[in-house]
Amino acid sequence: MGEVLVSLKGADVVSSKDFTRPMVERVFEVADEALRSPERFSGSLSGKRVALLFVEPSTRTYSSFHVAARKMGADVLPLVDPEMTSLTKGESLYDTLKMIEGYGVDCIVMRHPARGAARYAADVVRVPVINAGSGSQEHPTQSLLDAYTIRRKRGSIDGLRIGFLGDLRFSRTVPSLVYTLSLFKDVTMHFIAPPALQVRPEVELHLRKRGVSYDKVEKQSEIPRVVGELDVLYVTRLQKERFPDPSEYERLKGSYRVDMELLSNARPTLGVMHPLPRVDELDPEVDGTPHAWYFEQASYGLPVRMALYHLILGG
Ligand code: NCD
Repeated sequence: MGEVLVSLKGADVVSSKDFTRPMVERVFEVADEALRSPERFSGSLSGKRVALLFVEPSTRTYSSFHVAARKMGADVLPLVDPEMTSLTKGESLYDTLKMIEGYGVDCIVMRHPARGAARYAADVVRVPVINAGSGSQEHPTQSLLDAYTIRRKRGSIDGLRIGFLGDLRFSRTVPSLVYTLSLFKDVTMHFIAPPALQVRPEVELHLRKRGVSYDKVEKQSEIPRVVGELDVLYVTRLQKERFPDPSEYERLKGSYRVDMELLSNARPTLGVMHPLPRVDELDPEVDGTPHAWYFEQASYGLPVRMALYHLILGG
């Protein structure tokens, strides 16, 4: 595959839909390299400045973008606490972005509660924008580290059966991962959730367009059988902050849980993934089993984000 086709130099990372399979594989290759020989990347971004504009809470995404930039020698401009930025004084996102751009940054990593915020930012600034979460819409860098986890644990993504369990409606990691996985061959997806939490129509539309085989599992009684057939089970918490109706959240709270009883039907090689944070949907007793991939998954946030910086800003 020619270098030109897979180049991410100067690119925005707004949606997982913008990626081709060769681009995703290029990110994996560089992430492998960052794991194998991290010293090769030290100082590779010296003289560059990265702004981290986080207008929503974050632990893993923020810290891995921060640590990755520092490891590579970039200067970091952190704008993390919405209470501390002028956005709370009524400054527009446009003005905030233009001001940050004026400080000579080479890239803006942004998390924002509004759908469309990342695309908007990419349109108004000249430097690359990396979407670190745009409301319930997408979280493309998470999908890269999620797919990378599967590829490291299983060697390949082609042909796998992946189940998504939990709040598939308001989650942003699920649509992005679905888009990324749909680039691979013969992947089958099962969306396991009550109707109120099912995957959004735009995601189904994408799957139909790409000819990916999937189904929706809405009955509690069918869950153990489906889990028994999976290679990967991707779990998400209820996205409480995005429920338009708090009584709906109360009704659905505790409606699903992954525990040893459910996993008693699973294949020995089943991997359980979770973007974290977890609340009560994933029993800590799973942590000590070989099914638990989620902490290793979180750790891949660092090499994958180093790879993204390298491909977008390096050279
Ligand atoms: C996720 C997010 O922010 O969408 N967390 C993360 O980035 N690892 C998932 C979540 O908040 O539930």
